[in-house]
Amino acid sequence: MSTEEVTVRVPGRVNLIGEWIDFSGGTVLPMPIRSEITLTRRSNGTQTDVIGSAQFGNEARVGMETPAQHDWPDAVRGALQAARAMGWIDGGQDVSVHSDIPVGQGLSSSAATIVAALKASRPAGETDDVALALAARRVENEFMGVPCGIMDQMAVAAGRRGHVLALDTVDCSFELLPLPDDWEIVVIQSGVQRELADGSYKMRQLECQAAADALGVEHLCALKGPELLKLSGAPARRARHIWTEGQRSLEAVDALKARDRSAFGRLMVASHNSLRDDMEVSLPVMDRMVEDALALGAEGARLTGAGFGGCIAALVAPECVATWWAALQARHPQLKRAD
Ligand code: GLA
Repeated sequence: MSTEEVTVRVPGRVNLIGEWIDFSGGTVLPMPIRSEITLTRRSNGTQTDVIGSAQFGNEARVGMETPAQHDWPDAVRGALQAARAMGWIDGGQDVSVHSDIPVGQGLSSSAATIVAALKASRPAGETDDVALALAARRVENEFMGVPCGIMDQMAVAAGRRGHVLALDTVDCSFELLPLPDDWEIVVIQSGVQRELADGSYKMRQLECQAAADALGVEHLCALKGPELLKLSGAPARRARHIWTEGQRSLEAVDALKARDRSAFGRLMVASHNSLRDDMEVSLPVMDRMVEDALALGAEGARLTGAGFGGCIAALVAPECVATWWAALQARHPQLKRAD
C-alpha cells in the first residue's frame, strides 16, 4: 500500500444559466470560479479515517464505514467510502482540507470537496472525469441524502478556468466554450446562507418530479410546450420554469458562441424572473441585488445555484466592472464578491 501524499485542487463553480434543470434533461452552463479547495490525502495504515481542517476547526476520527453525520467531513467520508468500494484506495486515510470557497453560498463547496477527495484517491491512469463526477453525485444522493443533479460535480470535475461548460445533463456530453474577452462574470454573495440538505432543495425537487409524473414524462425539458397546459397551480409553475429555462439555456449556448453579450444578458434576466415567479426560489434581498446590478449597467444578472440565498451572477463589460461594483457597493455595503 502506498503511503504517498497526494494533493489536489478543485475550484467552486458559478452557473451562468440553466437552473433547476439538471435532473430534467436540460443543458446547463456552469463555469469554475477562482476560489478552490486544496485537499491532501494519504493512507495511514490503520482502520480509521482522520479528516481534518485547521479552518473548519475540528478533526474527525471515524471508522471506515461510519454513516453520514450531517457535518462538514461527510463529503470526505462519503468520497473515501466510494473510493474504497471502487478499489481505488485501501484502509484508513488521513485527509486535510483547506478551502476558500464560501460555504452555503451556492458555489458547490460540497461537490468540490467530494470531487477533490475522489481525484486524490483515483489511481494514476484513470482519467475519466465523467465517471468520477457520476460517482461524486452518488455520494451526495445516496450517502449525504441530497437529491441533486449532475451539474455541480461535472462543473468542478471537468470544467476549465475561463471556459463555460455547456453540459447536456441527459448523457453528460459537453463542450468547453471560452468566455469571450469582452465579457466578465461577477459573482456576489448575498450573505444569506443556505444548505442543500436543509429540506428546501428536496421539497422543490419533489414538486418537479410530481409535475413530470403527472405528465408521464421522464424529462420536463423534453416537452413540446402545450402539454404544460394540463397542469395547474404549483406543479404548473415549476414545470413552466423547467421547460422555459431549458429553451433559454439552448439559446444562451447560441448567444455565447455568437459572442452576443446583450442577448446572453437578456436570457439571464428572464431566467431570474422565472426562478422568482415560477420556481419561487428567490428572496427579496436577491431580487433587489439583481435589480440594482441591472440598473447600474450590468447586461445580465440572476441568482445562481439553487436559490433561497447564496449568490447572484452578473454579466458586465470588463471596462465597466470597477465603477459598476463601486456603485453597487455604495447601495449595498455588506456585499462581497466571490468570483
Ligand atoms: C444545486 C444542485 C444542482 C442543481 C442546482 C440548481 O446546485 O446541486 O444539481 O440542481 O442546485 O440548478
